[in-house]
Amino acid sequence: MMILPTFLQALTVYSYRHYESDQALFKQFTASSGIPVHVVKAKADTLLERLKAEGQNSPADILLTSDAARLHAAQQANLLLPVTSQLLTQRIPAHLRDPASTWFGFTQRARVIVYHPDRVSLDELNSYEALADPVWKGRILVRSSANIYNQSLMASMIEAGGDRAALSWAKGVVANMARPPQGSDRDQMRALARGLGDVAIVNTYYVGLMQNSKNPQDRAVAAALKVFFPNQTGRGSHINISGAGVTRSSQQPAAAIKLLEFLVSEYAQRNFPAASYEYPVVEGVAWSQLQQDWGQFKSDTISLKSLGQHNLSAVKLLTQAGWR
Ligand code: FE2
Repeated sequence: MMILPTFLQALTVYSYRHYESDQALFKQFTASSGIPVHVVKAKADTLLERLKAEGQNSPADILLTSDAARLHAAQQANLLLPVTSQLLTQRIPAHLRDPASTWFGFTQRARVIVYHPDRVSLDELNSYEALADPVWKGRILVRSSANIYNQSLMASMIEAGGDRAALSWAKGVVANMARPPQGSDRDQMRALARGLGDVAIVNTYYVGLMQNSKNPQDRAVAAALKVFFPNQTGRGSHINISGAGVTRSSQQPAAAIKLLEFLVSEYAQRNFPAASYEYPVVEGVAWSQLQQDWGQFKSDTISLKSLGQHNLSAVKLLTQAGWR
């Protein structure tokens, strides 16, 4: 019988990320480390449920998913292992990772206002808060509150101003909606280009994905719209992450940490903006041309753990506000 050194065992990554570029990244990791990577893709909630059901028998070594609130939920369910890595704590700013070191952000995304320049001028735009002003009546496009991106945006409003202010803000936005929430972030931009509303709340990378889409209609949509970063004179625009943690079930946490460390390497960090228009987490890594065109911006630096901590209140208050 041949005994393989343990580092040759494949790492299993449960991933909610659906980018071809991730596969290329893992290949590069395997080439440099000798550690094969096996990716299991599923919806975020499915992966979490699977991890819970499998417990210590889970084949997963790493959970890779979007939104800090989801990573926080995994940590709260005791599915993630606290890890010690100087490289991770040095390269990832503190607010983009779990203070208990069970999860780490590897890409940043900003949730911004996209507007149609024919119907909105730049000086009309200001903050998320300002979208609750009646001047926006019938003009705002945004997806459902069942979506975690909106829950996390609401959580950031709670963190910034408390429950009551966040509730009255959400009520204001609901009163100003161009239509009942429906569809994805991309659908909000499609509706915006068709004239169904004047502004949309979306994540920046979707603008990039549409601008570089194979579909000429989507390219035309993106070309017609402009990106605005809210709250620049205050706390900064709301950002979130794609991130990962090592599972408690992992039999090879040292190799799993190596993969996480690879994701903060210059190579990986440069790849994210180029491939998926997400922002790097490591300071000084080059952005894509498109991101440079959107411009520099100030981002909110609240600990993203707070998005998870406020998630339940956010959902409750959004429902109370009538945000479907
Ligand atoms: Fe997304």
